[in-house]
Formats: sequence, structure tokens, C-alpha cells
Amino acid sequence: MCGIVGYVGKQNAVPVLISGLQSLEYRGYDSAGVAVLEENSIGIRKTKGKVDNLRNLLLNEPVSGNIGIGHTRWATHGAPSDMNAHPHFSNDDSIAVVHNGIIENYQELKDELEKKGYEFYSETDTETVAHLIHYFYKQGNDLLEAVRKTLERIEGSYALGVLCTDYPDQLIAARKESPLIVGLGKGENFIASDIPAILNYTKDAYILGDKELAVIKSDDVKLYDIKGNEIEREVYTYKWDVEAAQKNGYEHFMLKEIYEQPKVVKDNLSKRFSEDGKSIELDGIKLGKKELENINQIYIVACGTAYYAGLIGKYLLERIVRIPVNADVASEFRYKDPLIDEKTLVMVISQSGETADTHSALKLAKSKGARVLGVVNAVGSSIARDADDVLYTLAGFEIAVASTKAFSAQVVAMYLITLHIAQELGKIDEKEFAEIKKAMDNLPSQINDILNKAVLKIRGFVDKYIESKNVFYIGRGLDYVVGMEGSLKLKEIAYLHSEPYAAGELKHGPIALIEEATLVVGVVTQEALFDKTKSNIKEVKARGAKVLAIAMEGNSSIEDVADDVIYIPRTHWMLTSLLANIPQQLFAYYMALGLGEDIDKPRNLAKSVTVE
Ligand code: G6P
Repeated sequence: MCGIVGYVGKQNAVPVLISGLQSLEYRGYDSAGVAVLEENSIGIRKTKGKVDNLRNLLLNEPVSGNIGIGHTRWATHGAPSDMNAHPHFSNDDSIAVVHNGIIENYQELKDELEKKGYEFYSETDTETVAHLIHYFYKQGNDLLEAVRKTLERIEGSYALGVLCTDYPDQLIAARKESPLIVGLGKGENFIASDIPAILNYTKDAYILGDKELAVIKSDDVKLYDIKGNEIEREVYTYKWDVEAAQKNGYEHFMLKEIYEQPKVVKDNLSKRFSEDGKSIELDGIKLGKKELENINQIYIVACGTAYYAGLIGKYLLERIVRIPVNADVASEFRYKDPLIDEKTLVMVISQSGETADTHSALKLAKSKGARVLGVVNAVGSSIARDADDVLYTLAGFEIAVASTKAFSAQVVAMYLITLHIAQELGKIDEKEFAEIKKAMDNLPSQINDILNKAVLKIRGFVDKYIESKNVFYIGRGLDYVVGMEGSLKLKEIAYLHSEPYAAGELKHGPIALIEEATLVVGVVTQEALFDKTKSNIKEVKARGAKVLAIAMEGNSSIEDVADDVIYIPRTHWMLTSLLANIPQQLFAYYMALGLGEDIDKPRNLAKSVTVE
């Protein structure tokens, strides 16, 4: 995590760095800092807290110069503090470094450097990088070579930006496993962890690959491999525009992104059906009958919200395609020696395409010969690059840390993949396919409908539930899975203790936790399971729970047992999760709003988790 930005050009670097860091705050926001090349020295300002604190610090203690690097941190080594904030610098203040990633052998390097007389002031792993570059620089007087040698010594992951007083016209960047792009302007160039940081200035960039370096001047950028050989790279032009990274009148990015869902779902659907609507086209991915017949199991791997989208995929694929599907969170998958081989299709799902655990899971799957299908939002990200095939989720920028529209896009991807595989393997007939397609076409307007109606209702009853300390989400089948996502959202942004349970499992333990006024969210959109879940709701009601139900229109008997009900429009059973999740998002949002929490930047979290 952590966000990096860098500038070389003719403007004062500071405003460019600050606005860049602000757009990268989704990556971490516990401290921030900048280093700017002034006349013959480097001016460093850094402070604990959000980028706004840094901005205030700079008002009192300004620095200015045309070259600079900046950083917004999500702490890994060392608590959030002024001293642990980046940039870190060499003992003689001639070299400054910003870093995103983890230097795994930092203790060994630190011991070595201390023996050589280097003094350490922070608890971070990054400080070793500044001293090591300084050490190699003093040996050979060549900064690029010093950075290159440093990279050869460090183990772990890094995206780095390096400034040196002896090189007043350039900065050096490098990356391995943590994202970094080099933005290309006119008479000015940039580095950034992600494109929103520099979108005000350019849409063109080189996407740095693993173990690659860049020397960036205002009018020239050169790329090198780790051995020091110059390499060529095509310029990538991002299609997103500046508005996509702004709130456009919404109070929070999360709310804006919730309201973007009808469009996101529409975009994903309109591009994935053949012209006659009778088959699915997955961006040219070759997963036809021949390839699919060679597969005897599917493994779905992801983290967080993406994992829950994957679980929806598992339920659908097993039920419709009748193929065994395993699903694991990536941090477990990667260390469990999973049972996969060349007959396994591994599906990795990731919004950012940079999640360290998911990326490692992908590499493990490939090393075991499995075919890897990436379901990814961020174009050109590490996971997108390393997967055998990629289905992009077309959700656009998602800035709020809590994922909403990206989840919906992932769920649509699960629908499409399931239908495609089912069709190729003859597990669905034309009539049923047409029926589901028709239902899918209605999804964007149905989401709109929920947004219009549910929002008023939810705002109306949020006060009633705001005192809740423990919340349970219960459901069966797909309703259970979507409840997991609802529960996660409430934890993430409202900081409420909340747990999802399979409704039928309540009686085996969790029901002991239900007491007077405990809030239970009952998801009951699966009509085949309606009566069963309704009975479970009755059981919690009998023990004093307050119940908020999410049900499908037409099932009004749920009102007999629930305190409040939000209805989703009628749809095909396989599509209810997408709709049921919309009120869950709004509920979490308005609960967090009522509690006065920092919705877009919840404490301790970051959007892109590029460390283990
Ligand atoms: C973090 C984010 C979540 C996200 C998860 C996986 O925990 O806060 O919103 O679901 O990472 O991220 P990915 O980018 O791989 O989907």
C-alpha cells in the first residue's frame, strides 16, 4: 500500500505532489511527506496524519523546487509517526527515498550498514534503502548504478522514488511487485503509484515492469532492466478522465460509486453479449468447449470483497455447470499447497490487480500448471499482466476504500463466466439462457429503482439501529454469501461488530449471542429458501432481535416477522445477490454517516493491499 508520486519539470513540484498524494490517499493515510530539490539541498517535510496535515505544515514551513517526490503511508514497519513518515534520507541528507512495499531482509541490511557507521533514525525498513544507495553511490559516483546495486541487495517488494542533490535534473524510480507508472507530460514527467495522482497533467504513461528502473528528467525518460540494459516500452494511454477521480457533488466517493452502479452494470453487459444476444463474448478469452472439457475443477482465489464476489461465482458455477469449485482467500491459498494442476482453471479476482496475496496466489497457480483467468478492474495491473487471460470488470476508478461498484462489476463477471461455461458445456438450453439474459438486461434499471426507493427508507430507519453494537447477517445459499459482503461493509466503514452466518447454522452456536435488540439483517431473496430463512428469522425474533429484512417484491409475508423490509425488484434467482447488495451498501453508508465516521478513508484500512 502507500502511495508514491514524483515530479520533474518547470512547475513548483509541491502543489503537484500534494494533489497527487491526495488522490492516492486511498492507498494509505497515516502519515505523509514530500522531498523537494531546492538550490543545493533537499527540503523534506513530513508529518503524521493525512495529506491535509502535510499541506498545513507546508504552509508554515514552505519548500519549493521543480523536482520532488511524495508519499502517503500505510504503516507496516514502525508506527505512524513524523519520524517514520517518508521520505527517508541518507545521513548527509544528499539522498531522499520514498518507498511502497516491504524490504524483507531489512534487519540484515540494517546490521550491516550500522557496522559501516550509518545511523538510523526511524523504525522503518525503507531507511535501509536510503543508506544503501548512499553507500553504493560513495563507491562509484553513479546514482543509477547505486540504485541498481541496492535493488540487487534488497529482498521483498518495492516501488521507489529517489532524489539526489548531485543530480538536480532527475529522479530515479524502480519497482518490483508494487505498482509504479511513469507519467509522460510535455516538458514535465511524473511517477505515481496509480494514474489518478497525475491525471490532471497527463494520461500517457509507461507502466514499469518488475525489477525495472527509470531515470526521469523533464524532457527525457529512460527505462532500464535490473542489469542496467536500456529497454523500450510502449506508451500506455489511460482512458479515464479527471472527473472520474472527483466527487462530482457527492458527499463521499463511496456514495458516488454506489450511484454509478447502474452504468457500470450496463457497461459490463452491453459489451459481453454477441450481437444476436445468444452467446457471451469474454474479451476474446479462449475458454471454449475444447479448453473447458480439459478442466476438472475450478479454483477461485481473491481477498476481501473480491473474495465474496468469487463465492457468488462458486455457488453459481456449481449449481449451473455442475463442476467442483473451490474458493479460498488468497492468503490461505498461497500457503496451503493447494490441490491444483494443469486440469484446474484458477480464477483470481481483484479490483486493483495489485493485491500482494492474490498476485502470489496467481504465480503459485501458474507454477503448478493451472490456467489462470484474471477478473481485474485496473488495466495493466500486475495481476492483469501475469494472468493467462483477463476479463476486465469495467468499473472505472474506484476511490472509496470500501468497494461497491467494483464488487457489482465482479458479480456481473461471475454471471457472465458462469453462463459462458454453462453454454459451452451444454449445461444450459437456449430458452433458459434467453430468460436469464432478459433478466440481466433489466438489472441496471432495477438498481436505479432500488437506489431511488431504498435510500429514503434506509435514511428513515437508520436512527433506530444506530445504537447497535453487534449485528448479524443471516441468509441461505446466495443470500448467505451476499450477507458476508453486507457484513464486511458495515465493519469497514461503520466500525460495527458484525458477523454473517448461514441462517441454518444459527442454532449451532451463534443464536446464543442474540439478545434484546440485537440487530439481525435477514437476506431472503432466494425464493426456494424463503420459508426456511423466514423460520430462522422467527427464531431470532423470539429471542428479542430487531430484524431488518431484504426480500424480493411479492414476498410480503416477510413483514410478519421483520421490523423493516427493503424490497428488491423481481429477478431470476441467480441474479438476486447483485440487487440485494445495493440496500446493504446504503445501509452501511448511512450507518457510518450517522456515526460520523470517515467513510472514504476508514481507519487502519487501505484500498490496495500490496503487502502480505
Ligand atoms: C482491501 C480493500 C478491499 C478489497 C481487498 C481486495 O482489503 O480494502 O476493498 O476488496 O483489498 O482488493 P482487490 O484490489 O484485490 O480487489
